Amino acid sequence: MKLDWPLMQNNIVREDLDAVIAHLRQDDPKLTHGPEVASFEREWGEWLGKRYSVMVNSGASANLLGMTALRELRGPGEVIVPPLTWVSDIASVMQSGLAPVFVDIDPRTLAMDPRRVLEAVNERTRAVFLTHVLGYNGLTHELVDGLAARGVPLIEDACESHGATFEGRRIGSVGWMSHFSFYYAHHMSTIEGGMLSTDDPELYQVLRMLRSHGMVREASDEAVRTDYRTRFPDLNPDFIFAYPAFNVRPTEISGILGRSQLRRLDANNVVRTANLRRFLAGLDPARYRTDFAVEGSSNYAFTLVLREPDAALWGRVEAALRDAGVEFRRGLSGGGNQLRQPFVRRVLGDRWSEFPETEHVHFYGCYIGNYPTLDASKIGRLCGLLNGL
Ligand SMILES: Cc1ncc(COP(=O)(O)O)c(C=O)c1O
Repeated sequence: MKLDWPLMQNNIVREDLDAVIAHLRQDDPKLTHGPEVASFEREWGEWLGKRYSVMVNSGASANLLGMTALRELRGPGEVIVPPLTWVSDIASVMQSGLAPVFVDIDPRTLAMDPRRVLEAVNERTRAVFLTHVLGYNGLTHELVDGLAARGVPLIEDACESHGATFEGRRIGSVGWMSHFSFYYAHHMSTIEGGMLSTDDPELYQVLRMLRSHGMVREASDEAVRTDYRTRFPDLNPDFIFAYPAFNVRPTEISGILGRSQLRRLDANNVVRTANLRRFLAGLDPARYRTDFAVEGSSNYAFTLVLREPDAALWGRVEAALRDAGVEFRRGLSGGGNQLRQPFVRRVLGDRWSEFPETEHVHFYGCYIGNYPTLDASKIGRLCGLLNGL
């Protein structure tokens, strides 16, 4: 059976491209970041329910800025992270001079187990950096209230979960700050792109400066600019660098694409959610996990995970997907257990087996693309194929 099913399809459509072309047709169009990016940031914040947003050139840059800002504002210490996440969630912690402390996942949400997170909090904890994995909500009351009671900031990586909700609130609107990616393979795309959102005015100013070269004139608050100018009268006010920073600014093209894409996001997610429910309902629960926490989920991918460790069955799953032309990624987010990756092993040694839930999805889990143009009749055929293995 041939299903010809790529990971992502048509994520940037004609109307997005037409919006870019209309911009380019102007005489001398502005291409470096300007009013279109600013409008996208405002519209994004309204959609999300956060006061301030800063667009950057990728989700990895959002992670880097978030962790750098945390280090600048809260000082050195530990950050609690999951082993199942994207490389930049761990790399950004390390690059910022913070120490990652790993906590295993809850198999139903694929995010960190709230009880284990709270147990790991101590006086050195600077933040909990939670990844919402492949569209599932990773928040619980226990976690949100427990962190608030301990005064530990929650940072949400929602790069894989645009539009997911926790009790009606959008994922990414709950924590101190949140990160999104607009890479092509995600819910919406600006080709490459990312966003940080927060309600904290001080953090917002720091993020704006970090997005540039650490430049004070990128702060939007006149009081911040005046303060630096007054304290450093020997410097050209146009070239005061408050932080050793990065320049991870987006272009106007990204802002135009983001605005155009945001208009379709909610409608697209309705289709994705129906697809995921159909996929999980069609799978044989004796072989595959079907009890994911789907309440409020918004998935651009189907999560396929064996119920029990079974190397022979997993071998048949991979062979069947390849034969049917179904693209997949083993290990779920970021290829599975980050502790197995060379860049973490070098620092922490061989500690990956301390995280059995992540180990399971590392070897016996994968994701498959889920997008609005997916022919829904293929979902039943895929489930039939998998159930017969
Ligand atoms: C959870 C998570 N965070 C961050 C990123 C980085 O985003 P980007 O690819 O835009 O750099 C990704 C990428 O896929 C991701 O899945």
